[in-house]
Amino acid sequence: MAMQYGYFDDSAREYVITNPKTPVKWINYIGTLSFGGFVDHTGGALICKGDPSLNRIVKYIQQMPSSEFKGETLYVRVKRNGKYKVFSPFFVPTLDKYDRYECHVGMGYSRIISVFYGVRTECTIFVPVNEQVEIRDIVITNISSEPQEIDVIPVIEYTHFDAVKQFTNADWVPQTMVSRCHTDQQNTRVLIQYPFMCRDFKVNYFTSNYPVSSFESDRKRFLGENEYGTWAHPLALDKDELGNYEANRGDNIAALLHHLGVIAPGGVKRIITQLGQEESLQKATPQIERFRKSEEVDKAFKELSEFWSRYLSFMHVKTPDSCLNSMLNVHNPRQCFITYNWSRYLSYYQLGLGTRGLGFRDSSQDVMGVVDRIPEEGKKLIVKLLSVQKRDGSAMHQFNPLSMEGSMGDLTEMPDRPQYYGDDHLWIVLAVTAYIKETGNRDFLSEQIPFYDKEKGKAIESATVMEHLRRALSFTKNNTGKHGLPLLGFADWNDCVNLPKGAESIFNACLYGKALQEMIELADFLGEEKLVNEYKTDYEMMKTRFNESAWDGEWFVRYFDHDGTPLGSSKNEHGKIYLNGQSWPVISGFAAPEKGRIAMDSARKMLNTKNGLKLSTPGFNGYDPSKGGITTYPPGAKENGGIFLHTNPWVMIAETILGDGDRAFEYYNQINPAKKNDIIDEYECEPYVYPQNILGDEHPQFGLGRNSWLSGTASWVYQAATKYIMGVQPQYNGLKIDPCIPGSWEEFTIERLFRGTRYRIHIHNPKHVKKGVASVKVNGEPIEGNVIPLFKEGEEVKVEVVMG
Ligand code: GLC
Repeated sequence: MAMQYGYFDDSAREYVITNPKTPVKWINYIGTLSFGGFVDHTGGALICKGDPSLNRIVKYIQQMPSSEFKGETLYVRVKRNGKYKVFSPFFVPTLDKYDRYECHVGMGYSRIISVFYGVRTECTIFVPVNEQVEIRDIVITNISSEPQEIDVIPVIEYTHFDAVKQFTNADWVPQTMVSRCHTDQQNTRVLIQYPFMCRDFKVNYFTSNYPVSSFESDRKRFLGENEYGTWAHPLALDKDELGNYEANRGDNIAALLHHLGVIAPGGVKRIITQLGQEESLQKATPQIERFRKSEEVDKAFKELSEFWSRYLSFMHVKTPDSCLNSMLNVHNPRQCFITYNWSRYLSYYQLGLGTRGLGFRDSSQDVMGVVDRIPEEGKKLIVKLLSVQKRDGSAMHQFNPLSMEGSMGDLTEMPDRPQYYGDDHLWIVLAVTAYIKETGNRDFLSEQIPFYDKEKGKAIESATVMEHLRRALSFTKNNTGKHGLPLLGFADWNDCVNLPKGAESIFNACLYGKALQEMIELADFLGEEKLVNEYKTDYEMMKTRFNESAWDGEWFVRYFDHDGTPLGSSKNEHGKIYLNGQSWPVISGFAAPEKGRIAMDSARKMLNTKNGLKLSTPGFNGYDPSKGGITTYPPGAKENGGIFLHTNPWVMIAETILGDGDRAFEYYNQINPAKKNDIIDEYECEPYVYPQNILGDEHPQFGLGRNSWLSGTASWVYQAATKYIMGVQPQYNGLKIDPCIPGSWEEFTIERLFRGTRYRIHIHNPKHVKKGVASVKVNGEPIEGNVIPLFKEGEEVKVEVVMG
């Protein structure tokens, strides 16, 4: 029997972990990028404000073993015969034997419930909506039959706000770290902490709503490091009181000792802690006072659940597949919200350090996963992205959200290669058009946004959003190679194929084709005939070049090297076929349907596995600088023949375009994390979110997932399932219904809010077809075609669709 680590509780919108010894830490996100971070299932947390690299609060070192303390923890101790039994109700770092352990991974909160030594602890960890404070709401119950004397000691370990400096300078950092304690009449205390240079404008604070009898702010003293004390057994906790030491340097922590006194059997106590950062303690005081009140904390928690209820209520599906329902109604949209917030910046695998920041191509795609639910927030991110686009139409690869400083990404490590990414700027066309289709807000196109290029810190030029999009397209049009195909740049979507200058990318050609299709539709909607024709000509030109060069016999090639040699061809020894090389020609409409079918069949034959479709095969076996990053991986890992999940939904979409709903859904199912619950020992990652990659079948650990949470998979599987399988597609003038489903489905329903109108759509499939709409009735009246017109805001519309 496979090891079980937990179960889905759909009615509570939770995944409940019941065994703390998960193969790797499983995490959840709290708050947003403006304040928040992630919590692991053993109560550790990484918290930052505005930017994990430039303004981090808590020291959390992902690479430390799972048994280690990370960022934050909680100790409880019971006094028996004058001696303390110290344990952590989070299991880590003391690793005591538990009678019960649960981590409820909820929407914007994690709740750990445990029982050790007759003490039941329930700790709910969250950041209130639109607030900048982490709350830990701790409820202690004596469930033993004897009275117990119980103490509660929450602990934070701070980091320098400059997260890289913390790890690169072990002299300057510790010489600057300072902690101070403020005590009020009720003996509640606030520990404040800051690097010296921030004293007058930015302080971290940690406090609780309960009298604190003593505290510690120096790690060395808390652990008893002189005697080699450990987090598993901090020597300070053997004594009645902590040292009340205000650290003047060193590794700063915040530990608050609360004596709850003798609690009778069944007795309950509640302690609420707050971790935040403000300009000064004075500025933080009103907020501190507010969240010391348990009613306020209850209210904030209720608001958080209302936020998620609202967010999730924009769309609701009911299909014959319960795992699909659970992913689409809860977990997938939640993951889309998380990727929209954090891009690829901060996770258990992406450390949020240095100039990583938000990714241009990543965030452009992430926006498309939330634009139906929070379009105006999505727009704000689009505006930021456009402001790091350059005047020539290309884009900065990444940017720090706090400073808006752009960076070029990894390409600077290979100065002999082209110094731009060939695809970044094209994605924003897809994001902007998705936003306008969703909202109808065409005025956005005339908003002025500066380009990134600066002189003396000031933007040299601003232009309308429309002009930004036009420059993006012309950059690709004007940077083509020997076959007239777009140049690769340093890399396209696949970061790891880095060919010498002059190489061309079929992917860039197809993405350009898709972006042109979007522009043609947009220009048509705007009534700009000249523009329609201009882009139609560009589209046809690239389509012709593609068809003249890309066919390899049974599939499409993926690249042409600088000397014209194809890569992704039967002629290659390694990387004979690439998945994106097959799906994108279909998505862009460049491949004629017959060739598209053959290409997709080849992909199925050569790239499909029970765990998903591989990115390419066979993997390279040995470092080869002429191919770049891909050859740094062993065969089967990541971009080198691994299952890179982000690319699987593109195959689903291509299958729906070709009309095969059975295959599209088979591909959907084989990567659905909810279906991995029984094979976790092999898979290892959280079953409630998509990971970025799974090791492919050339690797000895085939099936092992990694890099969970922050992946373009979230947005694209969501789009594949809702827009292409269920087939509900926002258009400029209405909602198009064009499902492509498994033939076995008899019916399904989808409820969707679109421009303020709630559409209740019921789709019947009496003839068990996979695609095709025979008739549509709107509020009982038949309509022509399959685009449901717009209605007034607030209306409810009943739609009956019969496939056939
Ligand atoms: C990573 C990057 C993404 C890239 C992908 C494939 O997920 O964040 O931008 O497209 O890898 O290389």
